[in-house]
Amino acid sequence: MLQAMNDSFKVIDALADGEKLDVLQYQTLIEAMTPELAGYAADIADKVRRKIYGTDVYIRGLIEVGNVCRNDCFYCGIRKSNSMCERYVLANETILNCCAEGYKLGFRTFVMQGGEGAMSVDAVCDTVSQIRREYPDCAVTLSLGEYSRDDYVRMFNAGADRYLLRHETADKEHYLKLHPASMSFDNRMRCLHDLKDIGFRTGCGFMVGSPFQTSFTLAEDLAFIGKFDPDMCGIGPFIPQKDTPFGKFSAGSVQQTLFLLSLIRLIKPNILLPATTALGTLSPNGRELGIKAGANVVMPNLSPLSERRKYALYDNKLSTGTESAQSLALLKESVKNIGYKIVTARGDIKK
Ligand code: 5AD
Repeated sequence: MLQAMNDSFKVIDALADGEKLDVLQYQTLIEAMTPELAGYAADIADKVRRKIYGTDVYIRGLIEVGNVCRNDCFYCGIRKSNSMCERYVLANETILNCCAEGYKLGFRTFVMQGGEGAMSVDAVCDTVSQIRREYPDCAVTLSLGEYSRDDYVRMFNAGADRYLLRHETADKEHYLKLHPASMSFDNRMRCLHDLKDIGFRTGCGFMVGSPFQTSFTLAEDLAFIGKFDPDMCGIGPFIPQKDTPFGKFSAGSVQQTLFLLSLIRLIKPNILLPATTALGTLSPNGRELGIKAGANVVMPNLSPLSERRKYALYDNKLSTGTESAQSLALLKESVKNIGYKIVTARGDIKK
């Protein structure tokens, strides 16, 4: 027993030395999590991050461009079958107003996130090129779901720099349990590879504690991250949304999310890793804990206040307080209090 425990600490050291593990080794590590092991991983992950990014924390202005969605993911509050969801799509002009407000606050990356198909590809491209023209010193990130390679090329040519598309799970069978048959794991992977190949800075990610997830599927997620080599990775706990098929499942664990953030930092030292809203929703100081565990990005909400509550991916999703871009001063203060610094920068990955 003692030997096994010591081994897990050594495995953390090995990861920090750049060793890659196989799926079964990741699984053993995930199952070995204790508060002590997680604390150790967080300390080492923090050292690794400081070597590359110092104490800088990058901010992204998140604009939820619309909650209309053509997909029906079992976990998501904006799935198309959710008749309780009040739908909206922001006009181009509204999105540009969000950018103007964000720019003044110090944001140099804007993330346009939305349900799949909420905006037409034409509308996306128009808005992106307009943002690029008006804010040449800013990066534009898209997080709009699955499209054809041609559509992604159009978005890239319009000036989008980065694309976030969570893989959701690296296990094909698990993927089938989270999504209707109309969606496919293979297409998700095709999208991710196309995005990278086109030249987007590409982000993947998954929920921690999603229904039917196991230590093995999580291990597959870590192995996938090692292999795919993304520039960004968004992870946060699963949180049930009452009007979805998964409304009665329990939420993922904050502790496990923090441990996984640390492991991801060790697997990909220079990765851009957000402390997500979901983490902040489950724990009042979740985002601060995420930063201490190795995260170096936060994504405050710049969406118009009138629409914010409608983008309810899960129950009790934070949308005001330090979660909102307008309260940036509070966020800056709480990040400073734990020894880090929110900076005004595009926050590109350091290669
Ligand atoms: N709990 C936590 N995260 C969720 N997402 C969607 N629904 C939920 C939920 N119930 C995440 C998915 C998606 C991202 C935009 O939000 O991983 O990719």
